[in-house]
Amino acid sequence: MKIEGVRIIDAHQDVFGDIKIQDGKIVEITEKKVSEDEFEKAQILFPGLIDPHVHFREPGFEYKEDIESGSRAALSHGVTGFFDMPNTNPPTFTREILKEKKQIAEKTSFANYAFYFGAGPDNQSEIEKVDQVPGTKLYLNTTTGNLRMDDENRWCEIFRIGKKVSLHAEGDTFERAVKNWLEEGSPCELHLCHASLRSEVELVRKVKQEKSLANKITMEVCPHHLFMTHKDREKHGAFCCMKPELATEDDLAAMWEGVLDGTIDMFATDHAPHTKEEKESEQTFYGIPGVETLFHLLFTEFLERGYNLKKFSAMTSHNIYEKFRIKDQKGLIKSGYDADLVLVDPNWSGAISADNFYSKCRWTPFAGRAIRGEIQKVYLAGEEVFDGENILSGQEGQALKF
Ligand code: NCD
Ligand code: ZN
Ligand code: ZN
Ligand code: ZN
Repeated sequence: MKIEGVRIIDAHQDVFGDIKIQDGKIVEITEKKVSEDEFEKAQILFPGLIDPHVHFREPGFEYKEDIESGSRAALSHGVTGFFDMPNTNPPTFTREILKEKKQIAEKTSFANYAFYFGAGPDNQSEIEKVDQVPGTKLYLNTTTGNLRMDDENRWCEIFRIGKKVSLHAEGDTFERAVKNWLEEGSPCELHLCHASLRSEVELVRKVKQEKSLANKITMEVCPHHLFMTHKDREKHGAFCCMKPELATEDDLAAMWEGVLDGTIDMFATDHAPHTKEEKESEQTFYGIPGVETLFHLLFTEFLERGYNLKKFSAMTSHNIYEKFRIKDQKGLIKSGYDADLVLVDPNWSGAISADNFYSKCRWTPFAGRAIRGEIQKVYLAGEEVFDGENILSGQEGQALKF
């Protein structure tokens, strides 16, 4: 199969031409000369996006979302891979439970998948033995579920296992985690989930300046912390209630600075669906959906700000595969790489609407926001799985390899 006459953008190139796909892989790229005008108006082919932070809620909370609905939602908006979080029920604290999640995904996932392992009160030996996961998720602050860990000695025990640790931490807890990690001699890689504060970006920037540590620390930022502040919380109430909470204008500016100078490595949605009824109830439910707004929010903003789309692709795809050491050849449009691709018409403009969400979560605080770029086709392993309106495939997601 061939995709012809498109602008091919990934982390390393922005060229015009054709690509040839065979047996699910990109086998050839032929560059062609075009006028500047044609180049600007051409359809864009990106590597499929990967979302390194979603809560697809299965098992345990399937009424909010499940792997099937969540992965369909992902695919329909250009996200061909995801890392699911361990605060399901039961939490992903044992290899047995991890296996069960993978078996569900094998049967029902429309997109490629990986599952985080959770740090529990007494699962040290399971963490030591587990493999084929993006990392161990350690919760240092309160959020959905009962996974919070306060004992700093336990944090250090988990660091000493030597496997990548991803932190749900904010401000002070993140600072203490980094301090402990340094005192232990940085025995593992550290990843900060959903950055939201200037102090976090500044701390990571400082750590990355140390040559020996530069490749051991990474961080992600979510669209809601790039586009919204505490003022939106006041406006939208519970529908803008999430952890970490929305911060100040200055924190938001710090996120964009971190994106621009490379301190922030990647985008993630923290897709955390709750029902409308839950959000409207007396109880507090932290989290908002995101996997169906990731592409449009960021693609539009990169165009508006005149930022380089190679960086957009790096932060939604290549960097994630690279920083999490995924063994599959994914995230670039390159000969030998898997043909997980998204075709976009950049000339289209419209607005965000939850009416066309595949997620069970049919609301978003971003509703009505002006966006650009129509997703016209999504390919998974060379097969057209979304045609711009409908999902065409069966459940063909594959386990990502680490
Ligand atoms: C997440 C959830 O609901 O699972 N909620 C949230 O507000 N982000 C959990 C989390 O990422 O901390
Ligand atoms: Zn690279
Ligand atoms: Zn979190
Ligand atoms: Zn989360």
